[in-house]
Amino acid sequence: MEFLNVHFDPRQQALYILDQTLLPGQERQIRLETQEEMVEAIRSLRVRGAPAIGICAAYCLYVLARDIPDSDPEAFLSRLSAHAAALKAARPTAVNLGWAVDRGLRSAQACRERGRGEMLEALYRTAVEIQEDDAAKCKAISELGLSLIRDGDGVLTHCNAGPLATSRYGTALGPILLGTERGMTFHVFADETRPLLQGARLTSYELQRAGVDVRLICDSAASTVMKNGWVQACFVGCDRVAANGDTANKIGTSAVAILARYYGIPFYVLGPTSTIDLACPDGACIPIEERGEEELRSLWYEKPMVLPEVKCYNPAFDVTDHSLITAIITEKGICRPPYGPALAALCKEAHEGKKGTSAPGENFLHL
Ligand code: MRU
Repeated sequence: MEFLNVHFDPRQQALYILDQTLLPGQERQIRLETQEEMVEAIRSLRVRGAPAIGICAAYCLYVLARDIPDSDPEAFLSRLSAHAAALKAARPTAVNLGWAVDRGLRSAQACRERGRGEMLEALYRTAVEIQEDDAAKCKAISELGLSLIRDGDGVLTHCNAGPLATSRYGTALGPILLGTERGMTFHVFADETRPLLQGARLTSYELQRAGVDVRLICDSAASTVMKNGWVQACFVGCDRVAANGDTANKIGTSAVAILARYYGIPFYVLGPTSTIDLACPDGACIPIEERGEEELRSLWYEKPMVLPEVKCYNPAFDVTDHSLITAIITEKGICRPPYGPALAALCKEAHEGKKGTSAPGENFLHL
């Protein structure tokens, strides 16, 4: 099952995204042409999910670069940096956004001597590479994740970390989709994920369409399904993993992890190595996006559900303490505690593009 969540049409030379705010009711592609449209699309979650916003932003940078008239490399790069800064500021928590934009910027800087045409070519190639790599990484993550569950298992997931948030398969939903393709059966409990309902609108939609047995629950029913013995594993995505394994993901994820620990259920975080931020020593350093009050007051209701004078607090992400995470599954392997050395070794390998040189030790399983 593939979604054209981020799609660059080479014939038209145009960037399209699937507007995820309209799902599941409407599948509409919208074209992104200006910096304002791009920042708005990322900020309002028309395109969302850590890897997908990185992929989208890499194409955005290319599209914006084409409109920079300067042939002088320094002037070109200075305008490009301004676009890059605006894109990176659109959402603060997912590290993939800055990672992808910086990678595009570096690719252009690396061929500044060869002029504007070459810089554009490098930006385009980088975006395509990021997108293609992500599809390969998701497949690898899905294989590894699948090795952690058994046919017939119940799996609980929070938010949406499926194909809409990434490329094919996704991260947290990848093992389920891959296993289903191979004839396995899983029983998935999808938290609805207040307040933006990514679980209800996106996860249940993706899984239902793929023929998976999915059941939507309100976030507060997670404890009940775990207590009933219906959940053998929790799979969630991630927006940023700190060097010690603390992990930021959609608000409510840490509550799932605490419940899973209480009921003795393994809690797995799945994500590409581009989501690991070794520059962040622990979760306290991860910037947490705060969103508007209207998402709580009125967004899904015919009339406001809160008195206007009531104050609201709407953090979009929370940090799950590393001590609650059973394993972190990346395209390079499965990390188990202690996460510090395992993540450092894994990132070294991802950076160098090779495997097995850094003696990562017992807590790291190579692909
Ligand atoms: O606010 P969102 O919908 O972008 O939040 C998305 C999540 O929290 C996902 O779990 C995360 O980005 C991982 S997507 C593979």
